[in-house]
Parts: sequence; structure tokens; C-alpha cells
Amino acid sequence: MQIEARKERTGRVALVTGGTTGIGAAISEALLAAGYRVAANYLGNMPLAEAFSARTGIPVFEWNVADLAACNDGVACVQAAIGAVEVLVNNAGITRDVMLHKMTAAQWREVIDVDLGGCFAMCRAVIEGMRERRFGRIVNISSVNGLSGQAGQTNYAAAKAGLIGFTKSLALEGASRNITTNAIAPGYTDTAMVSAVRPDVMEQILKAVPAGRLGLPSEIARGAVFLAADDAGFINGITLSINGGKYLA
Ligand code: CAA
Repeated sequence: MQIEARKERTGRVALVTGGTTGIGAAISEALLAAGYRVAANYLGNMPLAEAFSARTGIPVFEWNVADLAACNDGVACVQAAIGAVEVLVNNAGITRDVMLHKMTAAQWREVIDVDLGGCFAMCRAVIEGMRERRFGRIVNISSVNGLSGQAGQTNYAAAKAGLIGFTKSLALEGASRNITTNAIAPGYTDTAMVSAVRPDVMEQILKAVPAGRLGLPSEIARGAVFLAADDAGFINGITLSINGGKYLA
């Protein structure tokens, strides 16, 4: 009864990885606005994370999602601060764009470890609790390029496509316990990651977006809030494309 009272007052607990910048920050803020108690994970840029926390009131926690032990510790800290994680958004990701004939093993591994391994480690850290409580909403941020492929992104596209198979498999595992796992495949969105693409390359990419513009982080967050909802419980294993029509899969 006590737990129910807390939920009614404060909403469910949501954790967003990479949740202090770009798409992740938009998702953290949209979940907060929808009534969730939100925690945001980050790695590296503490001043930015603290400024985000001061502006939004969302507590921030630093750890590396590629490290399973760090994820276990991080999830325990979040639980102690705001409660057991009921909604997990695996958003943390990096790029190391380079053509395969120039790609180093380190550039391959870093992207696979963070973008795909991070999803494994974070899900592993929360899944037993979700199974015990018989409720969970997991949203994995994939990419249009995991569906379509992209020159210069064999590492990133492999990780993001891998997330989709992971999502479908965990969806099957969790369904009977009211744990849903879905993916979002954002298109090119107005974030620092996309700003880092060379202007001449970006110009070509934008020509291939029927909407003729970049997405807004808030437009991706719209999908995450939808999939996180209690009454989204019958939506399981899907990949929701939000890409301005760039790739219709
Ligand atoms: N399709 C096919 N071939 C391509 C290509 C494309 N889209 N882009 C480049 N190439 C070819 C070029 O024609 C060139 O071929 P030749 O050597 O035969 O002339 C070769 O690839 C090298 O091209 P560059 O001169 O561009 O090579 P570079 O080493 O200077 O740059 C790169 C390589 C850094 C990968 C650059 O092409 C690039 O930044 N590409 C964009 C990658 C991209 O879209 N990243 C998305 C980042 S945002 C994100 O990832 C978020 C998300 O989820 C959407």
C-alpha cells in the first residue's frame, strides 16, 4: 500500500542513460513532464550534467554503461535515491565514424561495447528486479542507420541493428511478466552527434530526408514517453521509426 501511495504521488521511476544531453536529455525532461520520477545517467561531462540537473531538478549519476559492475552499482544508487527502476531508456551511445578500410579494432570495439554492450549491461542490472515486481518498460534507442546502413558506420550500424534483435528477444522473455522491450530508430536529429558530421556530408544526408530537416530531440522523446506508459503494455518488440520519412522499413 505504501508503494502504491508513493506511485500515485510521484509517478513511476525512470532511468535514462546518456540522459543529460541531446535526445537523452529530451527524454529525461519529457518523462519528468509526464509525471515520472527521473534519474539521468551520464559519463564524462560533469559540468554539463550538473547544469542539466540544476535546470531540471533531475538527479544525475555518473557511470560507464559498458561496465556491468558499474551499471549494477549505478542502478543501486538510483534505487536508493528515488526508488526501483521501472522504466529504463537505453539511450547512451557514441560514434566513431570511419570507412571500414581505415577502421581500427579499437574504433570497432568502443562502439560495440557502449552502444550494444551498454544495453546488455543496463538491462542485466534492472531485469531481475523488474521480473520480481512484474512490471517493466525498456526502451532502446537504435538508429535509422541500424535499419538502412550508412557508409562510414559499419560499427555503429552493427550495434544499432544488434539492438533491434536484442529488443525482440528480451520482449519475448519479459512479456509474461508485463515487461515490454521496444526500440526507437531515430533519424538524423538536431544533436551534437549529428552536428559533428562534416557539412558537405550533412548536406547530402539532408537531401535524403523527405521532411527536409533534422528531427528535434523532443520529437524522439515523444515516442519514448508513449512506449514507457503503463497502458503501452501490449506494445512489445517493435521498432518505432521517427525519421522524417528518411527510411521506411
Ligand atoms: N555512400 C557511398 N559511398 C560514400 C558515402 C556514401 N554515403 N560517403 C562517402 N562515400 C565514399 C566516397 O565517395 C569516397 O569514395 P572514394 O574513396 O572511392 O572516392 C569514400 O567513401 C571516402 O569518403 P570521404 O571523402 O567522405 O572519406 P573521409 O574519410 O573523409 O570521411 C566519413 C569518412 C567520416 C565516414 C564521412 O564520410 C562521414 O562523416 N560520413 C557520414 C557518416 C554519418 O552519417 N554519420 C552519422 C552520424 S550521426 C548518427 O549516427 C546519429 C544517427 O543515429 C543518425
